[in-house]
Amino acid sequence: MRPVWWDDDDAAVALIDQTRLPLAVSELRYHDYHDLAAAIKTMKLRGAPAIGVAAAYGVALAAVQSRAADTATLQHDIEQAIAVLAETRPTAVNLFWALGRMRQLAARLAEGSDVVAMRVGLLAEAKAIEAEDDAACRAMGVHGATLVPPHANILTHCNAGGLATTGYGTAVGVIRAAHEAGNSIHVYVGETRPLLQGARLTAWELQQAGIPMTLITDSMAAYFMARGEVDLVITGADRIAANGDAANKIGTYGLAVLAHAHNIPFYIAAPSSTIDSAIANGSHIPIEQRPPTEVTELAGTRTAPPGVTAANPAFDVTPARLITAIITEQGIFKPSFDFSAAPPQPLPAGGE
Ligand code: MRU
Repeated sequence: MRPVWWDDDDAAVALIDQTRLPLAVSELRYHDYHDLAAAIKTMKLRGAPAIGVAAAYGVALAAVQSRAADTATLQHDIEQAIAVLAETRPTAVNLFWALGRMRQLAARLAEGSDVVAMRVGLLAEAKAIEAEDDAACRAMGVHGATLVPPHANILTHCNAGGLATTGYGTAVGVIRAAHEAGNSIHVYVGETRPLLQGARLTAWELQQAGIPMTLITDSMAAYFMARGEVDLVITGADRIAANGDAANKIGTYGLAVLAHAHNIPFYIAAPSSTIDSAIANGSHIPIEQRPPTEVTELAGTRTAPPGVTAANPAFDVTPARLITAIITEQGIFKPSFDFSAAPPQPLPAGGE
């Protein structure tokens, strides 16, 4: 499964429409980066790493779309596309990381190459970003599976799966890797109000992978923890500050507090592209505020009285002190989360 890819035959960015899952698996194609930006904003594609990959393809698309005949004009058109794509979702830093990487390459290619080489180079870079994310997720799986005890009951939130990345997943990647290694795990999937990424997307992915799971509402987490039925919590992240504070889907902070209260390890799995070392702590992470109708309605049907005021922050920040470890493709970082130093590597099987 690939949630986003470049269609070579059509010179278009292709997506699986996540707003229609799990009822329909349908593809969308974009030939204009403005439409792709609208699709990211309306969450036809979502999840921090996938947003980064889609934005990189958006820049490549802008380069193909542009009628520029010289590199300076093409670079200007690319800058305009970067500005539009940067306005889509504010919290996931992978978006800005990917756009920054594409911008740097465009600037380098604009000096001393031609428009054809620029277009080819930018598309190759976007494809490399996609391939690197897949490799990072699989490496996170290998590292993270070492933290999963035999027969573990795992609680996850939102969708940090293949749909949120390039097919394998971060938190769900760890779950997949544990399952693939023969560990007979079971997963509690929080439904994740208001947009139900857990119920609609993670439940669908785990079902397809044949991983035993139980769907719960968000408010059931404490009940299962108090009964000793959760051995660990693992989620993804949208932005991790230099001190380890981590923004993820609204409700994640509450789960971390609950895990702490019940002495249950709380893990985050995210690629290095999610670490924002430019910000010291989580107070600097911009939190996306989404339309109140996502709260007053369910699947387009009004559930609250007309005229009611509703708040809709899409993310919250879990303080580093509640996080047991952060798993990246480099390995397992423990408090105090020094991301500038390589984490200790696990010994090879049978090693001393
Ligand atoms: O609003 P969304 O659906 O884009 O939020 C997604 C999440 O919060 C994920 O947990 C996060 O992006 C990590 S995805 C590997």
